[in-house]
Amino acid sequence: MIQGRKILIGVGGGIAAYKVCEVVSTLAKAGAEVRVIMTDRAQQFIPALTLATLSRHPAYTDADFWQPHSRPLHIELGEWAEVFLLAPLTANTLGKLVYGLADNLLTNTVLASTCPVLVAPAMNTDMWEQQSVQRNWQQLQTDSRYHAIDPNAGILACDRVGKGRMAEPAEILSHLESLLWTGGKRDLQGKRILISAGGTREHLDPVRFIGNPSTGKMGIALAQAALHRGASVTLVHAPMESGLLAPLTNIRTVPIGSAAEMQQSLQQEMLQADWIVMAAAVADVRPAEYHSEKLPKRSLPDSLALAAVPDIVAELSQQKQPHQKLIGFAAQTGDILPPAMEKLQRKNLDVIAANPVDRPDSGFGSDRNQAVFLDRSGRKQILDPCSKLVMAHALYDFVNDCVIQTS
Ligand code: C5P
Repeated sequence: MIQGRKILIGVGGGIAAYKVCEVVSTLAKAGAEVRVIMTDRAQQFIPALTLATLSRHPAYTDADFWQPHSRPLHIELGEWAEVFLLAPLTANTLGKLVYGLADNLLTNTVLASTCPVLVAPAMNTDMWEQQSVQRNWQQLQTDSRYHAIDPNAGILACDRVGKGRMAEPAEILSHLESLLWTGGKRDLQGKRILISAGGTREHLDPVRFIGNPSTGKMGIALAQAALHRGASVTLVHAPMESGLLAPLTNIRTVPIGSAAEMQQSLQQEMLQADWIVMAAAVADVRPAEYHSEKLPKRSLPDSLALAAVPDIVAELSQQKQPHQKLIGFAAQTGDILPPAMEKLQRKNLDVIAANPVDRPDSGFGSDRNQAVFLDRSGRKQILDPCSKLVMAHALYDFVNDCVIQTS
Protein backbone atom coordinates (compact mmCIF):
# COMPACT_ATOMS: atom_id res chain seq x y z
CA MET A 1 0.00 0.00 0.00
CA ILE A 2 2.87 2.37 0.82
CA GLN A 3 5.47 1.40 -1.80
CA GLY A 4 5.86 4.18 -4.40
CA ARG A 5 3.06 6.32 -2.94
CA LYS A 6 3.50 10.10 -2.69
CA ILE A 7 3.27 11.29 0.89
CA LEU A 8 3.71 14.94 1.86
CA ILE A 9 4.46 15.77 5.49
CA GLY A 10 4.08 19.24 7.00
CA VAL A 11 5.91 19.64 10.29
CA GLY A 12 4.83 22.34 12.74
CA GLY A 13 6.71 23.96 15.61
CA GLY A 14 6.21 21.72 18.61
CA ILE A 15 8.39 19.30 20.56
CA ALA A 16 6.36 16.39 19.15
CA ALA A 17 8.17 17.12 15.86
CA TYR A 18 10.81 14.63 17.01
CA LYS A 19 8.24 11.83 16.66
CA VAL A 20 7.73 12.74 13.00
CA CYS A 21 11.29 11.55 12.33
CA GLU A 22 10.12 7.99 13.01
CA VAL A 23 7.10 8.41 10.75
CA VAL A 24 9.30 9.71 7.90
CA SER A 25 11.90 7.01 8.43
CA THR A 26 9.33 4.18 8.46
CA LEU A 27 7.62 5.46 5.31
CA ALA A 28 10.90 5.89 3.43
CA LYS A 29 12.02 2.38 4.42
CA ALA A 30 8.68 0.99 3.19
CA GLY A 31 9.42 2.53 -0.24
CA ALA A 32 7.18 5.61 -0.10
CA GLU A 33 8.18 8.85 -1.82
CA VAL A 34 8.26 11.30 1.05
CA ARG A 35 8.53 15.10 0.84
CA VAL A 36 8.74 17.24 3.94
CA ILE A 37 7.77 20.87 4.54
CA MET A 38 8.92 22.49 7.76
CA THR A 39 7.73 25.76 9.28
CA ASP A 40 10.37 28.14 10.65
CA ARG A 41 9.47 27.13 14.18
CA ALA A 42 9.68 23.41 13.36
CA GLN A 43 13.34 23.92 12.44
CA GLN A 44 14.03 25.11 15.96
CA PHE A 45 13.02 21.69 17.25
CA ILE A 46 14.62 19.48 14.59
CA PRO A 47 17.08 20.45 11.88
CA ALA A 48 15.96 20.19 8.25
CA LEU A 49 19.00 17.98 7.67
CA THR A 50 17.49 15.25 9.88
CA LEU A 51 14.27 15.03 7.89
CA ALA A 52 16.12 15.44 4.57
CA THR A 53 18.35 12.49 5.42
CA LEU A 54 15.49 10.31 6.62
CA SER A 55 13.26 11.14 3.62
CA ARG A 56 16.14 10.88 1.09
CA HIS A 57 15.16 14.31 -0.27
CA PRO A 58 15.82 17.92 0.77
CA ALA A 59 13.24 19.14 3.31
CA TYR A 60 11.45 22.30 2.14
CA THR A 61 11.38 25.46 4.27
CA ASP A 62 10.06 28.99 3.81
CA ALA A 63 13.47 29.90 2.38
CA ASP A 64 12.66 27.62 -0.60
CA PHE A 65 9.18 29.11 -0.92
CA TRP A 66 10.55 32.53 -1.82
CA GLN A 67 13.03 31.24 -4.40
CA PRO A 68 12.16 31.27 -8.11
CA HIS A 69 11.03 27.81 -9.33
CA SER A 70 9.86 26.67 -12.76
CA ARG A 71 6.41 26.45 -11.15
CA PRO A 72 5.48 27.79 -7.71
CA LEU A 73 6.66 25.31 -5.10
CA HIS A 74 3.37 25.12 -3.19
CA ILE A 75 1.49 24.31 -6.42
CA GLU A 76 4.02 21.62 -7.42
CA LEU A 77 3.90 19.98 -3.99
CA GLY A 78 0.13 20.36 -3.63
CA GLU A 79 -0.53 18.66 -6.96
CA TRP A 80 2.08 15.98 -6.30
CA ALA A 81 0.76 14.72 -2.94
CA GLU A 82 -1.58 11.71 -2.66
CA VAL A 83 -1.94 12.29 1.05
CA PHE A 84 -0.79 15.16 3.28
CA LEU A 85 0.12 14.68 6.94
CA LEU A 86 0.30 17.70 9.27
CA ALA A 87 2.15 16.70 12.42
CA PRO A 88 2.45 18.13 14.93
CA LEU A 89 -0.44 20.47 14.17
CA THR A 90 0.00 23.57 16.36
CA ALA A 91 -2.82 25.76 17.67
CA ASN A 92 -1.58 28.49 15.34
CA THR A 93 -1.67 26.38 12.15
CA LEU A 94 -5.03 24.88 13.21
CA GLY A 95 -6.48 28.38 13.39
CA LYS A 96 -5.07 29.23 9.97
CA LEU A 97 -6.54 26.09 8.39
CA VAL A 98 -9.98 26.87 9.79
CA TYR A 99 -9.94 30.36 8.32
CA GLY A 100 -8.20 29.44 5.05
CA LEU A 101 -5.17 31.60 5.85
CA ALA A 102 -1.88 31.01 4.09
CA ASP A 103 1.26 32.86 5.18
CA ASN A 104 3.99 30.24 4.77
CA LEU A 105 4.90 27.30 2.53
CA LEU A 106 3.00 24.78 4.66
CA THR A 107 -0.35 26.59 4.77
CA ASN A 108 -0.12 27.69 1.12
CA THR A 109 0.49 24.08 0.10
CA VAL A 110 -2.58 22.95 2.07
CA LEU A 111 -4.69 25.39 0.02
CA ALA A 112 -2.98 24.38 -3.21
CA SER A 113 -3.69 20.65 -2.70
CA THR A 114 -6.86 18.58 -2.90
CA CYS A 115 -5.73 15.25 -1.38
CA PRO A 116 -6.89 14.02 2.05
CA VAL A 117 -5.13 15.79 4.94
CA LEU A 118 -4.38 13.89 8.13
CA VAL A 119 -3.99 16.22 11.12
CA ALA A 120 -2.30 15.22 14.39
CA PRO A 121 -2.33 18.08 16.91
CA ALA A 122 0.01 18.37 19.89
CA MET A 123 0.12 21.08 22.53
CA ASN A 124 -0.05 21.79 26.25
CA THR A 125 -3.31 20.72 27.93
CA ASP A 126 -4.48 24.26 28.74
CA MET A 127 -3.82 25.34 25.18
CA TRP A 128 -5.70 22.29 23.85
CA GLU A 129 -8.66 22.90 26.15
CA GLN A 130 -9.11 26.59 25.26
CA GLN A 131 -12.58 27.20 23.90
CA SER A 132 -11.09 28.86 20.84
CA VAL A 133 -8.87 25.86 20.05
CA GLN A 134 -11.67 23.34 20.67
CA ARG A 135 -14.01 25.38 18.48
CA ASN A 136 -11.41 25.42 15.70
CA TRP A 137 -10.77 21.68 16.09
CA GLN A 138 -14.48 20.88 15.76
CA GLN A 139 -14.86 23.31 12.88
CA LEU A 140 -11.93 21.79 10.97
CA GLN A 141 -13.57 18.37 11.14
CA THR A 142 -16.72 19.62 9.42
CA ASP A 143 -14.55 19.80 6.29
CA SER A 144 -14.44 16.22 4.93
CA ARG A 145 -10.93 16.78 3.57
CA TYR A 146 -9.48 16.68 7.04
CA HIS A 147 -8.98 13.41 8.91
CA ALA A 148 -8.32 13.97 12.59
CA ILE A 149 -6.23 12.05 15.09
CA ASP A 150 -7.01 13.34 18.56
CA PRO A 151 -4.09 13.89 20.91
CA ASN A 152 -3.56 11.38 23.71
CA ALA A 153 -3.41 12.06 27.42
CA GLY A 154 -0.18 11.53 29.35
CA ILE A 155 2.94 13.32 30.54
CA LEU A 156 3.72 16.38 28.44
CA ALA A 157 7.16 17.91 27.88
CA CYS A 158 6.04 20.84 30.09
CA ASP A 159 5.62 18.26 32.95
CA ARG A 160 1.87 18.59 32.83
CA VAL A 161 -0.18 15.40 32.88
CA GLY A 162 -3.16 15.72 30.57
CA LYS A 163 -4.37 15.70 27.02
CA GLY A 164 -2.09 17.07 24.35
CA ARG A 165 0.44 14.39 23.41
CA MET A 166 0.63 13.83 19.70
CA ALA A 167 -0.66 10.43 18.54
CA GLU A 168 2.06 7.78 18.41
CA PRO A 169 3.85 7.12 15.08
CA ALA A 170 2.21 3.65 14.79
CA GLU A 171 -1.26 5.20 14.89
CA ILE A 172 -0.33 7.93 12.40
CA LEU A 173 1.20 5.35 10.05
CA SER A 174 -1.86 3.10 10.13
CA HIS A 175 -4.14 6.07 9.42
CA LEU A 176 -1.94 7.11 6.48
CA GLU A 177 -2.07 3.55 5.13
CA SER A 178 -5.88 3.63 5.42
CA LEU A 179 -6.10 6.95 3.55
CA LEU A 180 -3.93 5.58 0.76
CA TRP A 181 -6.38 2.67 0.45
CA THR A 182 -9.62 4.68 0.68
CA GLY A 183 -8.52 7.96 -0.93
CA GLY A 184 -10.22 9.58 2.07
CA LYS A 185 -13.75 8.23 1.57
CA ARG A 186 -15.81 7.62 4.69
CA ASP A 187 -18.07 4.92 3.37
CA LEU A 188 -18.72 3.42 6.80
CA GLN A 189 -19.93 6.71 8.31
CA GLY A 190 -23.05 6.15 10.40
CA LYS A 191 -22.28 2.42 10.76
CA ARG A 192 -21.76 0.91 14.18
CA ILE A 193 -19.24 -1.89 13.96
CA LEU A 194 -18.70 -4.40 16.75
CA ILE A 195 -15.45 -6.36 16.62
CA SER A 196 -14.18 -9.21 18.78
CA ALA A 197 -10.43 -9.72 19.11
CA GLY A 198 -7.76 -11.81 20.81
CA GLY A 199 -7.67 -15.27 22.33
CA THR A 200 -10.04 -16.12 25.17
CA ARG A 201 -8.69 -17.71 28.34
CA GLU A 202 -10.55 -20.59 29.97
CA HIS A 203 -9.28 -20.82 33.51
CA LEU A 204 -8.78 -23.95 35.57
CA ASP A 205 -7.78 -21.83 38.56
CA PRO A 206 -6.70 -18.17 38.93
CA VAL A 207 -3.30 -18.78 37.31
CA ARG A 208 -3.79 -21.64 34.83
CA PHE A 209 -5.82 -21.48 31.69
CA ILE A 210 -6.42 -23.01 28.26
CA GLY A 211 -5.55 -20.39 25.67
CA ASN A 212 -4.33 -19.94 22.11
CA PRO A 213 -1.65 -17.88 20.35
CA SER A 214 -3.99 -15.15 19.08
CA THR A 215 -2.54 -11.67 19.78
CA GLY A 216 -5.56 -9.61 18.68
CA LYS A 217 -3.62 -7.80 15.92
CA MET A 218 -6.21 -8.68 13.26
CA GLY A 219 -9.04 -7.36 15.44
CA ILE A 220 -7.14 -4.13 16.10
CA ALA A 221 -6.52 -3.66 12.37
CA LEU A 222 -10.26 -4.20 11.75
CA ALA A 223 -11.09 -1.61 14.41
CA GLN A 224 -8.66 0.96 12.98
CA ALA A 225 -9.77 0.42 9.37
CA ALA A 226 -13.43 0.83 10.37
CA LEU A 227 -12.68 3.98 12.37
CA HIS A 228 -10.67 5.47 9.50
CA ARG A 229 -13.64 4.89 7.19
CA GLY A 230 -15.94 6.82 9.52
CA ALA A 231 -17.61 4.01 11.53
CA SER A 232 -18.16 4.11 15.27
CA VAL A 233 -16.32 1.12 16.66
CA THR A 234 -16.58 -1.08 19.74
CA LEU A 235 -13.83 -3.63 20.33
CA VAL A 236 -14.58 -6.51 22.70
CA HIS A 237 -11.18 -7.97 23.38
CA ALA A 238 -9.53 -10.79 25.27
CA PRO A 239 -6.30 -10.01 27.20
CA MET A 240 -3.63 -8.63 24.90
CA GLU A 241 -0.34 -6.75 25.10
CA SER A 242 -0.98 -3.25 26.41
CA GLY A 243 1.27 -1.84 23.68
CA LEU A 244 -1.24 -3.01 21.08
CA LEU A 245 -4.21 -1.36 22.77
CA ALA A 246 -2.50 1.84 23.89
CA PRO A 247 -2.57 3.70 20.58
CA LEU A 248 -6.30 3.23 20.00
CA THR A 249 -8.05 6.58 20.27
CA ASN A 250 -11.75 6.98 19.57
CA ILE A 251 -12.40 3.22 19.75
CA ARG A 252 -14.59 1.95 22.60
CA THR A 253 -12.90 -1.03 24.21
CA VAL A 254 -14.56 -3.69 26.37
CA PRO A 255 -12.07 -6.05 28.04
CA ILE A 256 -13.15 -9.64 28.71
CA GLY A 257 -11.34 -12.84 29.76
CA SER A 258 -13.24 -16.01 28.99
CA ALA A 259 -15.53 -17.11 26.15
CA ALA A 260 -18.51 -16.83 28.54
CA GLU A 261 -17.63 -13.19 29.26
CA MET A 262 -17.17 -12.53 25.56
CA GLN A 263 -20.58 -14.07 24.85
CA GLN A 264 -22.25 -11.87 27.47
CA SER A 265 -20.60 -8.67 26.22
CA LEU A 266 -21.28 -9.39 22.57
CA GLN A 267 -24.93 -10.22 23.17
CA GLN A 268 -25.37 -6.88 24.89
CA GLU A 269 -23.30 -4.85 22.42
CA MET A 270 -24.88 -6.52 19.41
CA LEU A 271 -28.14 -4.67 20.03
CA GLN A 272 -26.48 -1.41 18.95
CA ALA A 273 -24.40 -2.81 16.07
CA ASP A 274 -24.86 -2.88 12.29
CA TRP A 275 -21.95 -5.17 11.48
CA ILE A 276 -20.47 -7.73 13.86
CA VAL A 277 -16.97 -8.96 13.00
CA MET A 278 -15.82 -11.98 14.99
CA ALA A 279 -12.05 -11.94 14.68
CA ALA A 280 -11.48 -13.40 18.16
CA ALA A 281 -10.01 -16.85 18.57
CA VAL A 282 -12.65 -18.17 20.94
CA ALA A 283 -11.99 -21.38 22.85
CA ASP A 284 -14.01 -24.43 21.88
CA VAL A 285 -13.62 -26.06 25.29
CA ARG A 286 -13.01 -25.03 28.89
CA PRO A 287 -12.03 -26.95 32.01
CA ALA A 288 -15.28 -28.50 33.31
CA GLU A 289 -14.51 -27.28 36.81
CA TYR A 290 -13.11 -23.95 38.04
CA HIS A 291 -11.16 -23.71 41.29
CA SER A 292 -11.24 -20.28 42.86
CA GLU A 293 -7.97 -20.90 44.77
CA LYS A 294 -4.72 -21.79 43.01
CA LEU A 295 -4.41 -25.59 42.99
CA PRO A 296 -1.23 -26.88 44.63
CA LYS A 297 0.93 -28.84 42.18
CA ARG A 298 0.20 -32.11 43.92
CA SER A 299 -3.57 -31.57 43.51
CA LEU A 300 -3.42 -31.05 39.76
CA PRO A 301 -5.51 -33.73 38.01
CA ASP A 302 -3.79 -36.29 35.73
CA SER A 303 -6.33 -35.58 33.06
CA LEU A 304 -8.58 -32.60 32.60
CA ALA A 305 -12.35 -32.91 32.24
CA LEU A 306 -13.51 -30.49 29.56
CA ALA A 307 -16.85 -28.86 28.81
CA ALA A 308 -17.89 -27.41 25.47
CA VAL A 309 -18.00 -23.64 25.05
CA PRO A 310 -21.10 -22.42 23.22
CA ASP A 311 -20.46 -21.27 19.67
CA ILE A 312 -20.93 -17.53 20.18
CA VAL A 313 -21.14 -16.53 16.55
CA ALA A 314 -23.68 -19.26 15.79
CA GLU A 315 -25.79 -17.99 18.71
CA LEU A 316 -25.51 -14.36 17.62
CA SER A 317 -26.68 -15.36 14.15
CA GLN A 318 -29.96 -16.57 15.70
CA GLN A 319 -30.54 -13.11 17.18
CA LYS A 320 -29.41 -11.21 14.11
CA GLN A 321 -31.78 -8.55 12.74
CA PRO A 322 -32.28 -8.19 8.97
CA HIS A 323 -30.18 -4.98 8.79
CA GLN A 324 -27.23 -6.63 10.56
CA LYS A 325 -24.27 -8.39 8.95
CA LEU A 326 -22.33 -11.10 10.73
CA ILE A 327 -18.77 -11.73 9.62
CA GLY A 328 -16.66 -14.58 10.97
CA PHE A 329 -13.06 -15.68 10.71
CA ALA A 330 -11.77 -19.19 10.27
CA ALA A 331 -8.18 -19.88 11.27
CA GLN A 332 -7.29 -23.02 9.34
CA THR A 333 -4.37 -25.30 8.55
CA GLY A 334 -4.08 -27.31 5.35
CA ASP A 335 -6.75 -26.74 2.72
CA ILE A 336 -8.65 -23.70 4.05
CA LEU A 337 -11.54 -23.60 1.59
CA PRO A 338 -13.76 -26.64 2.43
CA PRO A 339 -13.87 -25.97 6.20
CA ALA A 340 -14.51 -22.25 5.56
CA MET A 341 -17.49 -23.06 3.32
CA GLU A 342 -18.81 -25.45 5.92
CA LYS A 343 -18.46 -22.83 8.72
CA LEU A 344 -20.15 -20.14 6.63
CA GLN A 345 -23.23 -22.39 6.42
CA ARG A 346 -23.16 -23.99 9.85
CA LYS A 347 -22.64 -20.70 11.71
CA ASN A 348 -25.10 -18.89 9.44
CA LEU A 349 -22.62 -16.09 8.62
CA ASP A 350 -22.99 -13.46 5.91
CA VAL A 351 -19.27 -13.47 5.16
CA ILE A 352 -16.33 -15.59 6.31
CA ALA A 353 -12.63 -14.73 6.09
CA ALA A 354 -10.58 -17.92 6.12
CA ASN A 355 -6.91 -17.43 6.86
CA PRO A 356 -4.12 -19.99 7.00
CA VAL A 357 -2.25 -20.22 10.30
CA ASP A 358 0.37 -22.70 9.10
CA ARG A 359 2.13 -20.50 6.53
CA PRO A 360 4.83 -17.88 7.03
CA ASP A 361 3.62 -14.29 6.62
CA SER A 362 0.14 -14.84 8.03
CA GLY A 363 -1.90 -15.92 11.02
CA PHE A 364 -1.36 -15.60 14.77
CA GLY A 365 0.95 -12.79 15.88
CA SER A 366 2.08 -11.83 12.38
CA ASP A 367 1.71 -8.23 11.17
CA ARG A 368 0.59 -9.68 7.85
CA ASN A 369 -2.14 -12.02 6.76
CA GLN A 370 -3.67 -13.70 3.73
CA ALA A 371 -7.19 -15.00 3.26
CA VAL A 372 -10.06 -16.22 1.18
CA PHE A 373 -13.34 -14.30 1.62
CA LEU A 374 -16.62 -16.10 0.94
CA ASP A 375 -20.21 -14.94 1.10
CA ARG A 376 -23.56 -16.70 0.98
CA SER A 377 -24.16 -15.91 -2.67
CA GLY A 378 -21.04 -17.92 -3.56
CA ARG A 379 -18.74 -14.95 -4.17
CA LYS A 380 -15.09 -15.70 -3.47
CA GLN A 381 -12.07 -13.41 -3.22
CA ILE A 382 -8.51 -14.56 -2.69
CA LEU A 383 -6.27 -12.07 -0.91
CA ASP A 384 -2.49 -12.48 -1.23
CA PRO A 385 -0.24 -11.74 1.76
CA CYS A 386 -0.64 -8.11 2.86
CA SER A 387 -0.66 -6.06 6.07
CA LYS A 388 -3.52 -6.87 8.45
CA LEU A 389 -4.79 -3.31 7.93
CA VAL A 390 -5.01 -3.83 4.17
CA MET A 391 -6.78 -7.14 4.76
CA ALA A 392 -9.29 -5.36 7.01
CA HIS A 393 -10.01 -2.81 4.26
CA ALA A 394 -10.34 -5.52 1.60
CA LEU A 395 -12.78 -7.37 3.87
CA TYR A 396 -14.92 -4.23 4.38
CA ASP A 397 -14.97 -3.68 0.60
CA PHE A 398 -16.13 -7.29 0.18
CA VAL A 399 -18.86 -6.87 2.82
CA ASN A 400 -19.95 -3.57 1.22
CA ASP A 401 -20.38 -5.37 -2.12
CA CYS A 402 -22.36 -8.06 -0.34
CA VAL A 403 -24.65 -5.33 1.12
CA ILE A 404 -25.17 -3.82 -2.35
CA GLN A 405 -26.02 -7.24 -3.80
CA THR A 406 -28.55 -8.13 -1.13
CA SER A 407 -30.31 -4.74 -0.99
O1 C5P B 1 -13.14 -21.83 16.07
P1 C5P B 1 -13.73 -21.71 14.70
O2 C5P B 1 -12.73 -22.00 13.61
O3 C5P B 1 -15.02 -22.45 14.54
O4 C5P B 1 -14.04 -20.14 14.54
C1 C5P B 1 -14.71 -19.64 13.43
C2 C5P B 1 -15.54 -18.43 13.85
O5 C5P B 1 -16.37 -18.77 14.93
C3 C5P B 1 -14.74 -17.25 14.30
O6 C5P B 1 -15.38 -16.08 13.81
C4 C5P B 1 -14.80 -17.32 15.81
O7 C5P B 1 -14.63 -16.05 16.40
C5 C5P B 1 -16.17 -17.92 16.03
N1 C5P B 1 -16.31 -18.75 17.25
C6 C5P B 1 -17.25 -18.39 18.18
N2 C5P B 1 -17.44 -19.13 19.31
C7 C5P B 1 -16.69 -20.22 19.53
C8 C5P B 1 -15.71 -20.59 18.61
C9 C5P B 1 -15.55 -19.82 17.47
O8 C5P B 1 -17.94 -17.39 17.98
N3 C5P B 1 -16.89 -20.90 20.65
